[in-house]
Amino acid sequence: MFVVVGVTGGIAAYKAVAVVRAFVQDGHDVHVIPTPDALRFVGTATWEAISRNPVTTSVHDDVARVRHVSLGQSADLIVIAPATANSLAKMTAGLADDLLGTTLLATTAPVVVAPAMHTEMWRHPATQHNIGILRGRGVEVVGPEDGPLTGGDSGPGRMSEPDVIVAAALAAVGSPADAGASGEGAERGRDLQGLRVVVSAGGTREPIDPVRFLGNRSSGRQGVAVACAAADRGAEVTLVAAHIDANVLAAASVSPRVRVVRAGTAAELGDAVREAAVGADVVVMAAAVADYRVAEVSAHKLSKEQADGPEVSLHLVQTEDILAGLASGRAPGQTIVGFAAETPAPDETLLERGRRKAVRKGADLLAVNRVGWAEGFEVDVNALLVLDRRGELVAEARGDKRAVADALWDGIRKIRAER
Ligand SMILES: Cc1cc2nc3c(=O)[nH]c(=O)nc-3n(C[C@H](O)[C@H](O)[C@H](O)COP(=O)(O)O)c2cc1C
Repeated sequence: MFVVVGVTGGIAAYKAVAVVRAFVQDGHDVHVIPTPDALRFVGTATWEAISRNPVTTSVHDDVARVRHVSLGQSADLIVIAPATANSLAKMTAGLADDLLGTTLLATTAPVVVAPAMHTEMWRHPATQHNIGILRGRGVEVVGPEDGPLTGGDSGPGRMSEPDVIVAAALAAVGSPADAGASGEGAERGRDLQGLRVVVSAGGTREPIDPVRFLGNRSSGRQGVAVACAAADRGAEVTLVAAHIDANVLAAASVSPRVRVVRAGTAAELGDAVREAAVGADVVVMAAAVADYRVAEVSAHKLSKEQADGPEVSLHLVQTEDILAGLASGRAPGQTIVGFAAETPAPDETLLERGRRKAVRKGADLLAVNRVGWAEGFEVDVNALLVLDRRGELVAEARGDKRAVADALWDGIRKIRAER
């Protein structure tokens, strides 16, 4: 395959060397086009040595071969890693003031970009607007990831790892080496392609008054990992997001196959999930939904001055059981999966407690995890028991939340195949 790798002027240019090398080792004919700024980070000699092809950056180099269009016309795939904010803006506008710009206008090949920049630049409305337009034109956007950035700060903006970029690029051209968009799900490929899935995540907030709410400690990490795993494996995902850490949600928002719908209270989440579930193949209820809400929300902030004494009571009423409702009303062929965060009593095991709940809820699968002061919430690891609706253990998963998410999808595929 004739692969063009565009490299633009960011620190992550050094990681693009590994992208180029991976394509070469895979037997592809690789042509690197650095921007003039990129050459200030990694020089021509490195790109020529690694790609084993001559490297030029200006439309005025090697004019006899009409390189300003010939590389784009020959390309089967164009990957831009890293893609700076500047280069994304230029792509959006169709600027052609260097060899990479002319090549991009001269190609009909799939284009994959791996943005890398500081979080503020990534979140800037101009950059997000450009990304939206590029996606609309069919450009595949890989990452950026959430993590440490140059300068010591941390957040979304870090370029995806080279193996993730290469896997996503090969997937974009439907190569037999298609390994999915994520290194973590690489061996599973696009085994969820064609599925429409709904995932709820995060913690609901039940208002007490205009200022206060009843909430829970869910960060949304596990539900977002479930949504991202499904998207990376080819599914079209609606993520119904209750309260979720901004950085955690950003990881899902950048995936082109994840549509995010926001919900605040249990009632709003129930409405959003039911609406999204129409026509969905799988619904995963990973959100931590309040069991109780305040019967009458005060229109004014409750104050000590208005209280009769030092104590105050809140009258709580149960919220609806969204999972049980989805399970009893499921459409033919639809799979309903619930999550249960439990703190088993001293005389019972997590499995015993999970079994009772699995039978009571009637979902096709119930993923049960132990929670406590130091377990389950706001951490990157998890351990799940996955039970079927008779309470039988069908899978166990332990590890980082993404690995657990992939194991859960393996379980969901298994029970759907057995039907
Ligand atoms: C040390 C350094 C690191 C930079 N890293 C990035 C980066 O990661 N992402 C980005 O969008 N711009 C970054 N820039 C700014 C770009 O180099 C600058 O916008 C340049 O015009 C990009 O040109 P290009 O897109 O044509 O390569 C960096 C600049 C410097 C000096």
